[in-house]
Amino acid sequence: MTLPSPEICRRIRNLFRLIGSPNANEAANARGKLTALLTDHGLSWNDITAIVAAADADDAAQQPQQRKPAATPPQQTTDPQVNILDLVLAALRKRVRLRTRIRDFADQLRRDKLTKLCNKYGTDKGDTVAGCHGYAAIYHSFFKDLRDKEMSVCEIGLCRTSTTKVPSLTVWRNYFSRAKLFGFDIDDFSTVKIPNCTIVRGDSSSREDLRKLGDLGPFDIVIEDASHASHHQQITLAALFPFVKSGGLFCIEDLHYQPEDLEPKDAPKTRDVIRNGYQSPYIQDSEAAFLRANVKSVRFFDSNDKRNEDSHDALVIIERG
Ligand SMILES: C[S@@+](CC[C@H](N)C(=O)[O-])C[C@H]1O[C@@H](n2cnc3c(N)ncnc32)[C@H](O)[C@@H]1O
Repeated sequence: MTLPSPEICRRIRNLFRLIGSPNANEAANARGKLTALLTDHGLSWNDITAIVAAADADDAAQQPQQRKPAATPPQQTTDPQVNILDLVLAALRKRVRLRTRIRDFADQLRRDKLTKLCNKYGTDKGDTVAGCHGYAAIYHSFFKDLRDKEMSVCEIGLCRTSTTKVPSLTVWRNYFSRAKLFGFDIDDFSTVKIPNCTIVRGDSSSREDLRKLGDLGPFDIVIEDASHASHHQQITLAALFPFVKSGGLFCIEDLHYQPEDLEPKDAPKTRDVIRNGYQSPYIQDSEAAFLRANVKSVRFFDSNDKRNEDSHDALVIIERG
C-alpha cells in the first residue's frame, strides 16, 4: 500500500473516528464517506490502521511549528528554594503593608481634633506635614475647653509657600467656633477671605506695625510663628504681650531653629531670654519690667522635628496673670 497524501490520511482518520460516534446517523454518514474515500484512492479497510498512525505522526511533527512562542517566557527558576523565598518575602511585604495601614488607622483614631485639622490643612503644627512638630496636640490640651467660647485669637506668620492659603488660620476657623481671628504677616495676604478674620500686613521686627495689630486686641491667644529669628520673636513678645488678656496665652513656636540668614550674631536665644528675666538687647527695660510683672507661668515643650539635632524646648506657652 502506498500512503495517500497527509491531508487524505487525516480525512480518513477523522471519518474512521466518527464511525464510533454514539450518534447513529453521524456514524452511518461517516461510514459511507469513508468507504467512498477508500475506494477513490484504491485503499482497503485493512489499510486504515497504518493511515491513522501516519496522520497522527504527521500532526505530532507539525505541532511545535504551529505553537505560538510565548510573548514573555515565564520567569521560573529551577531552584525550588528560591521560589519559596520569593513567596515568603511577598507574604512578609504584604504583612508589613497591612501593619502600616492598621497603624495609620490607629494613629488617626488616637489623634486629637486639632492635630487632625492641622494635618488636613497642611500646617507643620500637626504630625504629618514638614517638620511634624506635634505642637497641635499640646495646644489642644490647653485650648480644648475654649473651643466654643467667644475669643480673640491671633497668629503671627501665615504661610511660607503661598499668599492665597493660610493653613493655620483655616485650622483655627474650624477649631474655634466663635473666635474672632487675626492674622499678621510681612507678605500681602489681602486676597484671603475667611469669616470673622482680619489679616494685617506688617513686619514683626517693627514695634509700630505690631502696635497696629495690638490695637485690634486684646487677645486671648497669640501664636508667634513668623521668621523664627530670635530678635523678631523677642520684639514681638515685648510689643504684643501688653495686648494679651489676663489669663491669656502667648505662644512662640520653633525656639529650636533660627534661619542663619536672619539671625544676628549677637542675638541671645529667646528661650534663654525668657529664662533670664527677659534681658535682651532687643527688649526695652520697660518691656522687660512689664513682662516680669505680668507673666504668671512659663512652660516649654519639645518639638517632634527630627530634622534638628536638638528639638528640646521648641515651643513656649506664656500665661499672663
Ligand atoms: C512658618 S510660616 C507660617 C506658617 C503658619 N503659621 C502655619 O502654621 O502654617 C512663616 C510666615 O512668616 C512670615 N514672615 C517672615 N518674616 C516675617 C516678619 N518679619 N514679619 C511678619 N511675618 C513674617 C512669612 O511671610 C511666612 O508667611
